[in-house]
Amino acid sequence: MDSRLPCTFADTVARIAADKSSVPGGLVPALHSVQEALGWIPPEAVPIIAGAFNRSRAEVHGVVSFYHDFRTTPPAQHRLGICSAEACQSMGADRVLSEAERILGCQMHEQTADGSMSLEPVYCLGQCAVAPALTVDERLWVRVTPERIAEILDQTRQETL
Ligand code: FES
Repeated sequence: MDSRLPCTFADTVARIAADKSSVPGGLVPALHSVQEALGWIPPEAVPIIAGAFNRSRAEVHGVVSFYHDFRTTPPAQHRLGICSAEACQSMGADRVLSEAERILGCQMHEQTADGSMSLEPVYCLGQCAVAPALTVDERLWVRVTPERIAEILDQTRQETL
């Protein structure tokens, strides 16, 4: 373990890796558990996990970078999830996404320069009849138009000041 890391960080990763390393196919579940516990997969976690699974760092890094779900940077303060499934697409989710990208200054799978908001796809929120739908953190918005996205983002900012 890297002695420069806080004990809690390294201990958490080591405990998760040890728990999952005896399970066949446990690497991906271990990475999910680390991300759930820490909010992301810091580069310092990779050698700890690699050691527990008797894999190389490159192999573990390859798995982390293969899946879009794994974050290799700290999560943004808020997460804007725009539904990218079929019903929302047919009702204009692409235009909502374009406006969100313009306002936030980042693309899908990225976050704002100040780390306040990430922009990520979500897949069917069960709101197809009132599409397009999106979430800001756990809050659901439906019948979203490009014109409403600025209002939704402003409201989020005001509520968190
Ligand atoms: S496709 Fe977007 S809520 Fe179902």
